[in-house]
Amino acid sequence: MEYKFCDKTDMKAVAEMEEKYIECPWSENTLLESFGQDSYVFIKAEEDGILVGYGSVQIILDEGNINNIAVSENFRNRGIASGILNNIISCCKDRGVTVMFLEVNEHNVGAIALYTKFGFGKIGERKNYYKSGNAIIMSLKL
Ligand SMILES: CC(C)(COP(=O)(O)OP(=O)(O)OC[C@H]1O[C@@H](n2cnc3c(N)ncnc32)[C@H](O)[C@@H]1OP(=O)(O)O)[C@@H](O)C(=O)NCCC(=O)NCCS
Repeated sequence: MEYKFCDKTDMKAVAEMEEKYIECPWSENTLLESFGQDSYVFIKAEEDGILVGYGSVQIILDEGNINNIAVSENFRNRGIASGILNNIISCCKDRGVTVMFLEVNEHNVGAIALYTKFGFGKIGERKNYYKSGNAIIMSLKL
């Protein structure tokens, strides 16, 4: 498995995964717009040149906000999301980030377990943030 920065041309595959796996998916246009901004970092996991996972973070001053992380269904439970998150965190450290934030659906047991494993802790909730439930706000001090 290889972890790399995304290219602009990866946004099509990322949009397809957003559509498949994310409750409020970003369109290819929204992804391209974000990709064009210096504050956004997109990391991909590739196997044999095929994108099988991605994650993105927006860095503003010393804060990093994780947008989404997703891994293709056939490739889960192999540590790929962990690899992506490790790359995102080290990129944040390199850019002087001191605290990271994210929102996750309260029912998303897998994602909450992943973030908890990396030391993220719950700091609050946004009621009815998603159609299917509240968002849990988590943060990690670097
Ligand atoms: C959440 C997701 C990204 C995890 O990807 P993954 O590559 O399977 O994750 P990893 O293999 O790196 O797992 C790391 C840890 O996360 C936790 N974890 C991951 N999936 C889990 C699940 N379904 N149930 C419980 N814990 C889970 C475990 O603690 C695991 O550590 P372990 O292997 O030592 O037990 C993946 O399930 C996914 O793409 N889900 C759909 C999209 C999504 O919900 N993204 C998060 C929204 S922000």
